[in-house]
Amino acid sequence: MHGLIAIDIAGEPMSTVAETASDTPSPRYRPSQRILHWLMAIVIISALVIGLYCSYLEQGTALRRALLDVHKSLGMTALVLIAIRLPLRLSFGEPANRQAFGTLVHYAARCTHILLYVLMILMPLAGYATSAAGGHDLPWFGLFQWPDILPLDGPLEQAAARIHEYGAYCLYAILSLHVVAALWHHFFRRDDVLERIL
Ligand code: HEM
Ligand code: HEM
Repeated sequence: MHGLIAIDIAGEPMSTVAETASDTPSPRYRPSQRILHWLMAIVIISALVIGLYCSYLEQGTALRRALLDVHKSLGMTALVLIAIRLPLRLSFGEPANRQAFGTLVHYAARCTHILLYVLMILMPLAGYATSAAGGHDLPWFGLFQWPDILPLDGPLEQAAARIHEYGAYCLYAILSLHVVAALWHHFFRRDDVLERIL
């Protein structure tokens, strides 16, 4: 990009705002954070879609059982990945914002990210508690069973299932907002918010 170059009174080239804005590489999340973001996006969106589909299937059918096994395996994978991702996020933080966003946009993004982290921890834990307290299988893609550390407990199973269900409603809403915001930044504002995570 041919930015305008001004010469200051000492004869040194002086970058204009236009040149600085386009030539400085955009600050991005660390590679490990970017990989984990997209890996978890695939795992969580697949778990959401399969979980939603299962909720329309009749209890006890072979198809529902098979799909729930895949669902639980994806959910437990998300639990392992979030245990790696959270410490990375806490130690690396996020890259500096290149564009100065308004306070409202800044805090809306921040709140959305925090809520997504809360749900990424709560959903697998509530799912685990539902299955473990109900004495159900805890498979991982047919390779092994996760340890069941909870005693059989009907009320706990019911409460965890309720949390899992309402957590899913929250996740649909917040995730939709998150994806729409990313597309809005990319296609309408044409800034580099999406590039930060690519
Ligand atoms: C990110 C992780 C997860 C997401 C996004 C997720 C999402 C969902 C959704 C949308 C449903 C259908 C709504 C409902 O009936 O509650 C569901 C159901 C279910 N999930 Fe998950 N889930 C996750 C993790 C897990 C894990 C780790 C387990 C167990 C190890 C699990 C076990 C179940 C079970 C047993 C149901 C059926 C509940 C019922 O019909 O009462 N989920 N999940
Ligand atoms: C097609 C799906 C998705 C798109 C297009 C997308 C897009 C983005 C973008 C552009 C950012 C950078 C925002 C910024 O730096 O201000 C971001 C960050 C983030 N996204 Fe997503 N995302 C998607 C799926 C998901 C899913 C499924 C989750 C979790 C449930 C998620 C959780 C997060 C979180 C927590 C951040 C903050 C960065 C971090 O701490 O890792 N995203 N996403």
